Amino acid sequence: MSEKLPYRTALVTGASRGIGAAIVRALCAEGLEVHAVARSAEPLRALAQATGCRPLVLDVTDSDALEASLGALAIDLLVVNAGRVTAVKPVHALTRWELDAMIDVNLRAAMHCARLVLPGMIARGFGHLVFVSSIAAHYPYPEMAVYCACKAALSMFAQNLRLDLLGTGIRVTELNPGRVRTDIYLEALGDPALVEERLYRDFRALEPNDVARVLVDALRLPPHADLARIDLLPTDQAPGGVAVVRRPPETARTPDSGRG
Ligand SMILES: NC(=O)c1ccc[n+]([C@@H]2O[C@H](COP(=O)([O-])OP(=O)(O)OC[C@H]3O[C@@H](n4cnc5c(N)ncnc54)[C@H](OP(=O)(O)O)[C@@H]3O)[C@@H](O)[C@H]2O)c1
Repeated sequence: MSEKLPYRTALVTGASRGIGAAIVRALCAEGLEVHAVARSAEPLRALAQATGCRPLVLDVTDSDALEASLGALAIDLLVVNAGRVTAVKPVHALTRWELDAMIDVNLRAAMHCARLVLPGMIARGFGHLVFVSSIAAHYPYPEMAVYCACKAALSMFAQNLRLDLLGTGIRVTELNPGRVRTDIYLEALGDPALVEERLYRDFRALEPNDVARVLVDALRLPPHADLARIDLLPTDQAPGGVAVVRRPPETARTPDSGRG
C-alpha cells in the first residue's frame, strides 16, 4: 500500500477544469480536505459533488477577496495552478488588457497566494508550496513572450522562497509540464477546432491526470526530501532549438545593375 500523504488540508487554484481539477480529484482520493478555487461556480459545484472538495468561488486577481479568503484558512499544501493565455501574439500586437491579465493571473496572484498561506505554515512548522509553472519558464515559445516571462518569474520566485524558507520545514516544488490536453488555449484562439489543429492533432499530449499523478508521487516523499523542480514532458515533445533567418548574399549592385 502506498504511504499516506503528510498533509491534511490543501488549497488548489484554477480547480474548475484541466490540470487543477485533476489535482483536486487526486488529493481528495488521498483523503485530504481540499479547497478548490476558481471563478466558475457550476464546475466547482460538480467537482465538490464528485470528490467532496470544498468549492471556493474566487477571482484570484481580486487581492481583497483573496486576502479575506486565504487569510482565514489553515493550509498545509498550496497548489498555485490558476493560469491563463489571453492571446498568442507578438508582444507589440497585444492589447493592454491582454498583457495585464496574463501577468495578473499567472504571476501577481500566484505570489499573493504564497504570501497569504505562508505565515500559517511557518507557525505550524511545516507545509508545501507547489507552483504549476511550465516548461515555458525555461524555453521561449513563439508569440508567448508575456506568458513565458511570467512562468520564468514564477520559477525564480519558487527558488527564492526555497532559500528564504530554509530551516522552516516547508517544501517548495516547481512543476513544469509540457503540452497538456486542456482548454487553456481556447481563450486565445477562440475556436476548439483551431486549438485541436494547432496544438493536439496527431500528437500525444499529456493528460491532466498525468500531471496530478506526478505531483502526488512528489508529495509522498518523506518530509526531509523535496522534489524541487519537475519537468514533465510528453514523450513526443522536445523544447529548445535555435531559430535563424537565412539571408543569401545580396547580388552585387552597381549603378548599372538592372539596366538592359
Ligand atoms: N495545458 C498546458 O499545456 C499547460 C502546460 C504547462 C503549464 N500549464 C499551466 O497549468 C496551469 C493550469 O492550466 P490548464 O491547462 O489546466 O488550463 P485551463 O484548463 O484553462 O484551467 C485554468 C484554470 O485556471 C482558472 N482561472 C483562470 N483565471 C482565474 C482567476 N482569475 N481566478 C481564479 N481562477 C482562475 C480557471 O477557472 P475559471 O475560469 O473558472 O476561473 C481554470 O480552472 C496553468 O498555470 C498553466 O499555465 C498548462
